[in-house]
Amino acid sequence: MKRLTVPKVMARKKDGVTEEPLVMLTAYTARMAQLLDQHCDLLLVGDSLGQVIYGLPSTLQVTLDMMIAHGAAVVRGSYHSVVVIDMPFGTYEASPQQAFENASRIMAETGAAAVKLEGGEAMAETISFLSQRGIPVMAHVGLTPQAVNALGGYMARGRSDAEEAKIIADGKAVAEAGAFAVVIEGVVEDIAIALTKAIPVPTIGIGASAECDGQVLVTEDMLGMFERTPRFVKRYGDIAAVISDTAAEYAGEVRDRSFPGEAQVYKAK
Ligand code: KIV
Ligand code: NA
Repeated sequence: MKRLTVPKVMARKKDGVTEEPLVMLTAYTARMAQLLDQHCDLLLVGDSLGQVIYGLPSTLQVTLDMMIAHGAAVVRGSYHSVVVIDMPFGTYEASPQQAFENASRIMAETGAAAVKLEGGEAMAETISFLSQRGIPVMAHVGLTPQAVNALGGYMARGRSDAEEAKIIADGKAVAEAGAFAVVIEGVVEDIAIALTKAIPVPTIGIGASAECDGQVLVTEDMLGMFERTPRFVKRYGDIAAVISDTAAEYAGEVRDRSFPGEAQVYKAK
């Protein structure tokens, strides 16, 4: 199977209609990428790895080096999906030039096909700058976790008329600037529906609406690795219980000396 490309992802939305929704999940490691790759169209190396992998309190402390190390691992572990890598907080907001310097490092050092960055109208110039210079950009509007301090928390966005108008203007601006797809996170459903109708490129929802052109979730949330997850997460598995039960079984066998058994022990000739 040949790797999907950004133009092929864009072409899935024809004249405003996406017959088969785009499937995207996060991956941070080569092994997880291998397991998810054949089921997905896109893999996102999200800066959510700050919380999921590193136990950080938010995405604000994630560094470019972390994203590059995990991004390269995910590219090595996949052969089918388009790999998109999040630009971390502080590596793109200052100017289009700053964004290009860091995005080009991400592309060159990982082999990924695209970057993702948060923000709407304020990032339009940067999105245009990168996409005209060979770097496909996925935009991210609505609830943008890197702006948690400005937003005051992770609550859903767009409950007032002013907020709704702003999110729709943001989505239109990034699409016009050349974003190849737009993540819409944590917004009331009407906004996701309106924005999906309003722009020609695919929208990818997370806590948005089934009317989006695709969906993304944090894989560990979907697998049931965490006690607490946002309302928009559906748990498709209970991996936390599988890991805990498996570790308990191993610990028990070590303690009663039934592991290692005959099958795991090397014998002299
Ligand atoms: O970092 C991330 O995982 C994301 C998705 C949740 C969209 O940005
Ligand atoms: Na992110």
